[in-house]
Amino acid sequence: MEIISNPTQVEIKKAAQALRDGHLVAFPTETVYGLGADATNSKAVSRIYSVKGRPKDHPLIVHISSMQQIYKWAVDIPEYAEKLANEFWPGPMTLILKRSELAKDFITGRQNNVGLRVPAQSVALALLGEFEKMGGSGIAAPSANRFGAVSPTSADAVQEELGKYLDTKDFVIDGGPAMVGIESTIIDCTSEIPRILRPGAITADMVKASIKIVPSVSTLNSSIRVSGMLPTHYAPNAKVKITGNTNSGEGFIALSNIPTPDGAVRLASPNNLDEYAKTLYTAFRTADFHGLTTISVIPPNGDGIALAIRDRLIKASG
Ligand code: TXA
Ligand code: MG
Repeated sequence: MEIISNPTQVEIKKAAQALRDGHLVAFPTETVYGLGADATNSKAVSRIYSVKGRPKDHPLIVHISSMQQIYKWAVDIPEYAEKLANEFWPGPMTLILKRSELAKDFITGRQNNVGLRVPAQSVALALLGEFEKMGGSGIAAPSANRFGAVSPTSADAVQEELGKYLDTKDFVIDGGPAMVGIESTIIDCTSEIPRILRPGAITADMVKASIKIVPSVSTLNSSIRVSGMLPTHYAPNAKVKITGNTNSGEGFIALSNIPTPDGAVRLASPNNLDEYAKTLYTAFRTADFHGLTTISVIPPNGDGIALAIRDRLIKASG
C-alpha cells in the first residue's frame, strides 16, 4: 500500500488510475474515510469485502462527483429526492434510490435499490472528478474499517484498521481529519415518504424544512439491510457504557462542562455537539490504544446531530 500524504493533482490522478486498474484507494470524506473501488468492477468490489471482512450481502454506497451522476445510477427518482440532492449535496447524506442497469447485484446486495452520495471533501471530489474523466462512473466505498469496528476519521486510523490487508498497489490518501466525524445520514427515497435509515449530520428537521415532508425514521427491525443496524457496530475493543457511574481507571467521554470523575481517564471534552461527533471515534481509538477496558460516556441531550451521536453510542455499547 502506498500512502499519499500530500494529495496534489498529480497524486490524485495516480490514485484515480489505480481505481480504474482495479485497485483499492482509501480516501477522506467529510464524514469518515472510505475504502474505495471502481463501482462497476466486480473483482475490485469483491476485494472491499475481503479487506473489510464484511458479509457479501451488505450493499455499498456509490460515491459520485455531482448530482448529475445520479441519473446514471438511479431511475424513477422522486421529486423530493432531487430536491434533497440539490440542497444537501455535496454533503453528509446518502440517498437510497431505485437502481439503474449500472448498479449491479455486487453493489446493491441483490436489492433493487442503490445508495448514492456526493461527499463534501475537496480531495474526494478531486478523486471522483479525475476518476470520471478516465471513464469511471462512481466509486463504491464503505467506511474504511474492519467489519463492526469503529469508522476511521484519519488516514492513520485507516492504516491501523486495514494496513495489513491492503496490497502494494492500493493507496491510502491522507486528507486530514474528517470534519463531521460520523457517517452520513441515509435516507430511503424509494417510497412516497422518505425514511431515515441512519441518522447523521443532515437531520430530520433539515429534511422536513427542505421538502416540506416529514420523514419517517426506521426502527431496528427494518427489512432493508443496513449493517449499521446490527446490534453491535461502530464498536471499539473497550466496553462502552452509557449509563451508571464512572469508576476509577475507566475512560470518560462527555461535553466539556461535565467534570471528569475521580480517577477516570478523560478521552474527549467537546465544547459542542459538532465537536462531539467529530472527536467521538478518535476518543474510542485512544481508549483502545491505551488498553482501557471500559469507556464511560455521558451522551448529549437533544435532537439534531445529538440523535446521531446517541445512535452510534447505543450501537457501540451493543
Ligand atoms: O458517511 C458515509 O456514509 C461513509 C463514507 C465513506 O461515505 N460510508 C459508509 O459506508 O458509512 P458503510 O458501508 O460503512 O455504511 C453504509 C451503510 C451500510 O450499512 C449499508 O448496508 C447501507 O449503508 N446501504 C448501502 N447501500 C444501501 C442500499 N441500497 N439499501 C440499504 N442500505 C444500504
Ligand atoms: Mg461502516
